[in-house]
Amino acid sequence: MVKSENRVYHGDCLRVIEDLCKDIRGKVKLIYIDPPFLSQTDYTLKDKSRGDAAGAGNLTETPTYSDKWNGGRQEYLAFIRERLEAMRPLLTEDGSLWVHLDWHVSHYVRVLLDEVFGSDGFMNEIIWRRTNSPKAQSKAFGAQHDVILLYAKNPALFAINRVYREHDAKSLKPYAYEDEKGKFRLIEIEAQGIQRTETRKQFEWRGRTAPYLYREETLEAWWRQGRIYRSKNGRYSKKQYLKDTPGIPVSDLWFDIHPVQGSSSEYTGFLTQKPTALLRRIIQAGSDPGDLVADFFAGSGTTAIAAESCDRGWILCDISDAAIETIRGRLNTEAGVESIDIWSV
Ligand SMILES: C[S@@+](CC[C@H](N)C(=O)[O-])C[C@H]1O[C@@H](n2cnc3c(N)ncnc32)[C@H](O)[C@@H]1O
Repeated sequence: MVKSENRVYHGDCLRVIEDLCKDIRGKVKLIYIDPPFLSQTDYTLKDKSRGDAAGAGNLTETPTYSDKWNGGRQEYLAFIRERLEAMRPLLTEDGSLWVHLDWHVSHYVRVLLDEVFGSDGFMNEIIWRRTNSPKAQSKAFGAQHDVILLYAKNPALFAINRVYREHDAKSLKPYAYEDEKGKFRLIEIEAQGIQRTETRKQFEWRGRTAPYLYREETLEAWWRQGRIYRSKNGRYSKKQYLKDTPGIPVSDLWFDIHPVQGSSSEYTGFLTQKPTALLRRIIQAGSDPGDLVADFFAGSGTTAIAAESCDRGWILCDISDAAIETIRGRLNTEAGVESIDIWSV
């Protein structure tokens, strides 16, 4: 069943955002937008009928939205600025805005965001590898990544929830030791390299004198817990068990989330559809269960599908008829929402 705050709006997001400001100003924890980005392209929704033995299926393409701007960059930036300014008051004081772009305008929009949010509101420029097979370019390198700009409404109050990606063969390699509690790797407890200064005191602990990084009481506590490893040459290290590590902490390089392929179960045919895993990561990092998230350039509705699966409330908006129909269909098939009212202002 749809939570009471969940809404889909059909129309220009500027009017919708201004209207929402009367109602839920300061209540949205996270806004993700994946707006047009001056690609000078018309986008479509592809629908392919199944082929059979007698022939291949037919491909139909419905226009979804146009990213062509007669007034060029100036017109585009004026469009985005107005909407970014309108969105900021909707955010909670500890809330954040995530803006998904690529090489076309990310550098211009970042300057706008610095103006609207203050340059200290800038938190990250996330690089998402959006394709594994970039188009060959005759004169330069093939473009393979998108950019997600993360801004906090109030940097003093904002903090992401730490998120982790699954271990891979490389990150598992150091876990080459094993005892009755399972696999573990070794963590240095003696000062190394630049940590090793003349002023760092050495002390003797359990038969070895060394510039330890921890106090004796701490080392003793670890010893009692069986978390100290003694190597053949008598040197001590701390054991870090694999079962205690939730994965690899995610940095600003996101190479582990794959694009939506024609063969993916979530594929809708909406040309600029983003993977649900991408939105789940953003939503989990920037909000908590029960929070409200919004996407004012919703496209195929990926944000709502991810928000539903993470137990967040959501608001979507899109100007395109085809997008709204795609959202309606996905909410039904992927989130079990039988029917949803479409709002307009
Ligand atoms: C890049 S797509 C979003 C794709 C989406 N993230 C997804 O996963 O499917 C951009 C969307 O912005 C919508 N759009 C463009 N101008 C708009 C406006 N003024 N108000 C609301 N939506 C708009 C387009 O119709 C399009 O669906």
